[in-house]
Amino acid sequence: MVDDDNSELEARLPDQDYYRPPPEFVGQANVSDPAIYDRFEDFPEGFEEYAELLEWESRWDEVLDDSNPPFYEWFVDGELNASYNCIDRHLDERKNQTALLWEGEDGEQRNITYQDLYREVNKMAAALEDAGVEEDDVVTLHLPMLPALPITMLACARIGAPHSEVFAGFSAQALADRIDDAGSDVVVTADGYYRRGDLLNHKEKADEACELAEKDVDKVLVWERHEGELHPDAELEEGRDVLVSELLANNERTRVDPVTRDAEDPLFLMYTSGTTGKPKGCQHRTGGYLAYATGTSKYVLDIKPEDTYWCAADIGWITGHTYIVYGPLSLGTTSVMFEGAPDHPHKSRIWEIAEKYDVDIFHTSPTAVRQFMKWGEEYLEGYDFDFRHMTTVGEPIQPEAWNWYYEHIGDSDAVIVDTWWQTETGGHLITNLPALDDMKPGSAGKPAPGIQPAIYDDRGDEIEPASGRAGNLVIERPWPGMLQTVYGDDDRFIDEYWRDFSETDSDDPEDWVYKTGDGAVHAQDGYFRILGRLDDVMNVAGHRLGTMELESAVSEVEEVAEAAVVSRNDPEKGEVPDVYVTLREGVDPGGIEDKIVAAVERDIGKFARPNAIVIVDDLPKTRSGKIMRRLLENISNDDDLGDTTTLRDPSVPERIRDQLQD
Ligand code: WTA
Repeated sequence: MVDDDNSELEARLPDQDYYRPPPEFVGQANVSDPAIYDRFEDFPEGFEEYAELLEWESRWDEVLDDSNPPFYEWFVDGELNASYNCIDRHLDERKNQTALLWEGEDGEQRNITYQDLYREVNKMAAALEDAGVEEDDVVTLHLPMLPALPITMLACARIGAPHSEVFAGFSAQALADRIDDAGSDVVVTADGYYRRGDLLNHKEKADEACELAEKDVDKVLVWERHEGELHPDAELEEGRDVLVSELLANNERTRVDPVTRDAEDPLFLMYTSGTTGKPKGCQHRTGGYLAYATGTSKYVLDIKPEDTYWCAADIGWITGHTYIVYGPLSLGTTSVMFEGAPDHPHKSRIWEIAEKYDVDIFHTSPTAVRQFMKWGEEYLEGYDFDFRHMTTVGEPIQPEAWNWYYEHIGDSDAVIVDTWWQTETGGHLITNLPALDDMKPGSAGKPAPGIQPAIYDDRGDEIEPASGRAGNLVIERPWPGMLQTVYGDDDRFIDEYWRDFSETDSDDPEDWVYKTGDGAVHAQDGYFRILGRLDDVMNVAGHRLGTMELESAVSEVEEVAEAAVVSRNDPEKGEVPDVYVTLREGVDPGGIEDKIVAAVERDIGKFARPNAIVIVDDLPKTRSGKIMRRLLENISNDDDLGDTTTLRDPSVPERIRDQLQD
């Protein structure tokens, strides 16, 4: 919940400057008429403007059915297919235009035209059907940044099988948990991919996941990084594992008609961390999601079909789903995909790609910007690229990093939009429209068209708009990109997102308010500044991690008695996890750190590795025995401890601090 520190933070921030979008940008922008905001204030009909960007098999009868909040229905009775909208409908006009421009870490390039994409997606759809996938079966994907990933997603969409992509960096255990929760019979993976020069054996994670999962997985479909050359260490289990290349080669069927999906039929699941140890499967609908992804890609990212657009995120997270695959392809543009690490084989790799493909629009995270800044301007020298539009997503961006991005990457003549949103929201909710609103470093900006955010205090009362006071960021009205529910768990959907600020026994939609979990400030100029998560979710280098998930991994180490995970501010990654543990009586502390790291890597993945592990005699606890994580967070961040009088043993925090200073 909000603490007073946030208001102090607001007071400490320096005055911010505004930057106007360059006139050349405004002249060519997809939206340059401020009337758009008024059009979308006609709620919910304003959102039809996004839906009109799609091709529907049958048009909706009603824009929004809000009779059973928070289970809203969008574009009721409309019918469409997402794969058709991202591929088939472009064939007449641009079948030879590149849809996906893929570059491997090893320098390999693949230009996949819309016609190629059509062919590949149809064949993969046939292969999925042959593997037994039927409409509405959830297919779990564990694919890295290979063309196989968008191809498989769109093949699933074509046959109406929701996909559930698990970021390739997740461990076998994390994959197994998600296979179980989604009840998938079929898993799609790859044999390997490159990371800093090594061809990783990725397939082994799916093998282990199948062992760990309670669910019996019938089929594992395996894409090869180098077609025809299976990774030397990858093993295929007879009867279960099938090479996609063989399935495609042996299949006579080269066309699979896109199935008609109801607007409310689910398109995909995306698991994300919440405040408990168990990740939530955010379920996204077909019509509302695709309309919102397409509309915001057009209006916020200013994508045009003739652009080369590069969102340097991983498709394994929501950003890649919405803003590498669904939004850009639905608009018929050229979307760049890069397999590797930004510093391999050298720290100019990103700029080399930007120059080679003449990228117009560039999308990245504040963590990446801070990294580029640390590496220094010299890595940009000699690279000739010219971005018209740049964005950031995932974390607050500090004015210093923003200014560096603007000046050195954008050459002081590109627009920058900071885009605030979440896995749950499907697309941007707070962000400027680039030709209409001035840029303000450090602020996410104004509400996107039709979105109604507000700031509430912890009691659930609205804080006066534009008052500059910190509070809970909430959204007061539904929008088409919002999640439908938590997969298989409507109660959890209500508990996590609605209960705190809604009257849950009311069926009046006005009484239902979506809780984002973020703190924010609404400034006098109408801009929102995001202050970060107020719940037990951390943001590590733009990756969302639940402290409870980390704690339960750490607690699995036999010697650990109790564990608390808190976030430490980090100049590069934003936040990093610090782990505090007490050990069981009489155990040898030698080697504990390694065991804890191994447990986190096993349960979640290497990207979640702790920053520091501190073994202490006692954790700060209230008299009722609750661990006070806030105090540990203060210790990690070298902040004042504040009030410690409610502790059972008020000397504990000081003792930990002394221990750290020794
Ligand atoms: C944070 C990523 C500040 C926020 C799309 C949110 C941001 C969480 C911004 C969602 C931003 C996202 N400024 N913070 N522009 N964008 N966040 O689900 O805390 O991976 O709740 O979605 O990231 O992370 P998620």
